[in-house]
Amino acid sequence: MRNAKILFIFIAIFSTKLFAKKETVCITCHLESGDEYLMKPVQEWQKSIHAENGISCHNCHGGNPKDEETAMSPEFGFVGVPEYEKVPEFCGKCHVGVKENYLKSAHGELLPDGPNCVTCHTAHSQQKAGLHLITPELCSQCHDYERAEKIKFALMNTENTISHLSKRIENLWTNGFDVEELNKMLFATRNSFRRLTHIVEVDYILAQTGGIYADLGKIEDEVKKRENILNRRKLIGAIIIVFLLISAYIFGKLHEELKKEATGK
Ligand code: HEC
Ligand code: HEC
Ligand code: HEC
Ligand code: HEC
Ligand code: HEC
Repeated sequence: MRNAKILFIFIAIFSTKLFAKKETVCITCHLESGDEYLMKPVQEWQKSIHAENGISCHNCHGGNPKDEETAMSPEFGFVGVPEYEKVPEFCGKCHVGVKENYLKSAHGELLPDGPNCVTCHTAHSQQKAGLHLITPELCSQCHDYERAEKIKFALMNTENTISHLSKRIENLWTNGFDVEELNKMLFATRNSFRRLTHIVEVDYILAQTGGIYADLGKIEDEVKKRENILNRRKLIGAIIIVFLLISAYIFGKLHEELKKEATGK
């Protein structure tokens, strides 16, 4: 009975793993083609954050992932390779907030002179994004790095505050506090903060950061309240231990005295 249960769980886990890595006709045909132009996107995509999250070829390029004949047919929504200026719409059908901010920015408004999503994130090997993406190699291709660095600096302080708060919340969690609400608040604030990047305008970012700091301040107050409770608990714990140690010492002494008295020495 128990073995059957374990086998069932094993099969369930195995099949969801298989399902997640489901091979589509796009992947098999492109990999088997032996053509570098067709294989390379697959190999890069396999290590990307999209593959990890189940976003596959057809989710971006359209088409029918189940049938070789109609795979790249426009009837199944196949759009092929987007033009440089169409890339923001192409990626933006899922990343709606980012697209909005990007299109409002100097970068989006000046397409095709501005960088598009692929310039900064690549087409197939996107990874978790962060301020580490802002580098002289990437950002001084079209203008000086100085302005890019200003953006990075404006964002870095807030990013540090957020990750510091996140560590304090984790510490509360390891000490048995319910931190779900705190994590939700921090997550929402972090999201509205990360939306700022694509606007690439220092004054705007600095102005918005004020509001974000106010939100972070509220979260920090909540964290502090719980830290105070935690510290009080620790203090009481310490007092109890000291009390027990002193009691043990006094009892030990008393015991010795009583023993001395009893033996008459
Ligand atoms: C039976 C083989 C086969 C299947 C299945 C297949 N492809 Fe292709 N694909 C090719 C070949 C060959 C080319 C290059 C010639 C061409 O553009 O038709 C290509 C080209 C492409 C291109 C580049 C087009 C361009 O304009 O350069 C994209 C993007 C693409 N495929 C995506 C997909 C997606 C997405 C799927 C699944 C929905 C898919 N393919 C399924 C064989 C295939
Ligand atoms: C996150 C969206 C996304 C996914 C997922 C994706 N592609 Fe692409 N693909 C693009 C974009 C954007 C371009 C255009 C690249 C450019 O502008 O330089 C592209 C270009 C291509 C090209 C043209 C050659 C090249 O390297 O530019 C081929 C072929 C291709 N993709 C096939 C695939 C296949 C096969 C898969 C699945 C393994 C896939 N793509 C998954 C976004 C995606
Ligand atoms: C079909 C929906 C879809 C499309 C189209 C799509 N993405 Fe994504 N993307 C996702 C999902 C889902 C994730 C993983 C969850 C998350 O982090 O948001 C993700 C994650 C990312 C990340 C990492 C985000 C992070 O949290 O650090 C980047 C960067 C990214 N995508 C860029 C792109 C680019 C560039 C394109 C176009 C070439 C694109 N995406 C097209 C759905 C999509
Ligand atoms: C000039 C370079 C650049 C361009 C162009 C760009 N990004 Fe980003 N992107 C970044 C940087 C830098 C971050 C990290 C921001 C952070 O962590 O605060 C980022 C973060 C992200 C994230 C994760 C943060 C979030 O808000 O979910 C996604 C998704 C993303 N970009 C998608 C896109 C898409 C889609 C486009 C095109 C419409 C695009 N990016 C254009 C540089 C760029
Ligand atoms: C493909 C070319 C290109 C790349 C790559 C590029 N930029 Fe830009 N950037 C532009 C253009 C074009 C403008 C608008 C004209 C100008 O101000 O020079 C601009 C303007 C800016 C501005 C001023 C915006 C404003 O509203 O005042 C900042 C800040 C900026 N970019 C930051 C970055 C950062 C950060 C990166 C790297 C993550 C980057 N850029 C990469 C082309 C590029």
